[in-house]
Amino acid sequence: MLLIFVRCGQVCPRYPIDMPATSLEQVVSLCKRRGFIFPGSDIYGGLANTWDYGPLGVELKNRVKQNWWNTFVHRRSDMVGLDSSILMNPKVWEASGHVGSFADPLVDCKNCNERYRGDKLLENKMGVEAVAVLSLDQVQPMLAAEKVNCPKCGKNDWSEAKHFNLMFKTQQGVIEGEGADIYMRPETAQGIFVNFKNVLQTGRQRLPFGIGQIGKAFRNEITPGNFTFRTREFEQMEIEYFVEPKDKAEQFDKWKDTVWNWYTGLGINPEKIRIRQHEDDELSHYSTQTVDIEYMFPWGWGELFGLADRGDYDLSQHEKFSGQDLKYTDPDDPTNKFLPHVIEPSFGCDRTVLTFLLEAYTEEELPNGDVRTVMKFDKRLSPIDIAILPLSKKPHLVAKAKEVQQHLLDETNLVTDFDVTGSIGKRYRRQDEIGTPLCITVDFGTLGEEDDQGPADTVTIRDRDTLEQKRVKIADLRSEIAEYWKS
Ligand code: GAP
Repeated sequence: MLLIFVRCGQVCPRYPIDMPATSLEQVVSLCKRRGFIFPGSDIYGGLANTWDYGPLGVELKNRVKQNWWNTFVHRRSDMVGLDSSILMNPKVWEASGHVGSFADPLVDCKNCNERYRGDKLLENKMGVEAVAVLSLDQVQPMLAAEKVNCPKCGKNDWSEAKHFNLMFKTQQGVIEGEGADIYMRPETAQGIFVNFKNVLQTGRQRLPFGIGQIGKAFRNEITPGNFTFRTREFEQMEIEYFVEPKDKAEQFDKWKDTVWNWYTGLGINPEKIRIRQHEDDELSHYSTQTVDIEYMFPWGWGELFGLADRGDYDLSQHEKFSGQDLKYTDPDDPTNKFLPHVIEPSFGCDRTVLTFLLEAYTEEELPNGDVRTVMKFDKRLSPIDIAILPLSKKPHLVAKAKEVQQHLLDETNLVTDFDVTGSIGKRYRRQDEIGTPLCITVDFGTLGEEDDQGPADTVTIRDRDTLEQKRVKIADLRSEIAEYWKS
């Protein structure tokens, strides 16, 4: 019997690689400095492995979610959306198998009392395949035999491994101690399965069709870390795609390509992602086939996305536990009733945002020898679309620049920033660091006061990536910008 199932989402140490140019520290530092991501509860000294998205981070994350929703829900006639509760009837988690099997092997160092995932300690030494086949009672002897010492105190004195269930338990009810135990959902998927019948009855979908959902999930991870890669509270963007059993191999392959194209279409370098098929003994309890899309993170390959064939595991379990008929009736042959099979494309939202941050981070030498840091986000993801920069703080120039900003706000849906502080060079550097694709400079030429800066009623547009500057009539700004966004 396989007692340890190696869950998806872990860093795969099998393929050692050179450290890429972008280090995690560079990105973490930029995130804090520029307001993308802050340590959680910062003024109280933080709470380990919690992170808050700041003003720019929330814009970036929202754009990732909007792009995902637009691509996978709005632009497909075979998909609908859902927003289900985090707190669910505890029977859901018995049916799904999470109460019984959603666990990692926990070991204690008897010398310093530090706790670790035994499989992770062994994986670092032996590789993921060797660990996937170990049973729970083999973990402690193997830690001793392989001389895997405690990373904190250096001793080799391990407790026996025990299952540690990753679900966060809480209580529902107003009287402490008298409420019912309930769980914070460890995946958004089950909210979709328990609503399958409701969606089917109200939406009249025909197979194949899918339900997409974006939302928080919670796991009491034993070893969170690597910034937002593994946290205890995180967001998922999940699809449960319901198919006839005979079509599932074809649909599985289609989803693999679709998701690959989504990531690369938004700027992920295809050479920095790869597909990895799970070994049989690595599969989650519900899956008969899983592939991950992995990204080359600064510490090595790590899971970004998982695609699983869940078969009819979940619907049949929920039928059994709820007593409800969850079968689909073939509209062309009402005598043909069956449980659809499920292909599940599951995206980690925070990991996806982290990947876009790492991928965008670029240090470039300029012709004058200066080095600029620029976040080369795909322009559909940049938190700010356009910055409006008056050349100086002179009130009548600032007023004109505000007019230009208002013109853009009235005429477009673009997100703008207005910055008047510091030299124009420093302001360009700041916009580069937050990834703003275009900057508009309003100068004395715009006001008709300095011919050598440009003709009256024109502004300069600067391109983040090419650094090209172009003089444009204010009256033509909207069409110029629309043209740029089309390219
Ligand atoms: N419903 C299937 C499921 O939850 P999973 O591989 O456990 O599968 C899906 O999780 C995705 O959620 C992963 O590919 C990863 O991107 C993200 N994820 C999982 N655990 C996470 C954690 N502790 N912190 C951040 N993201 C996580």
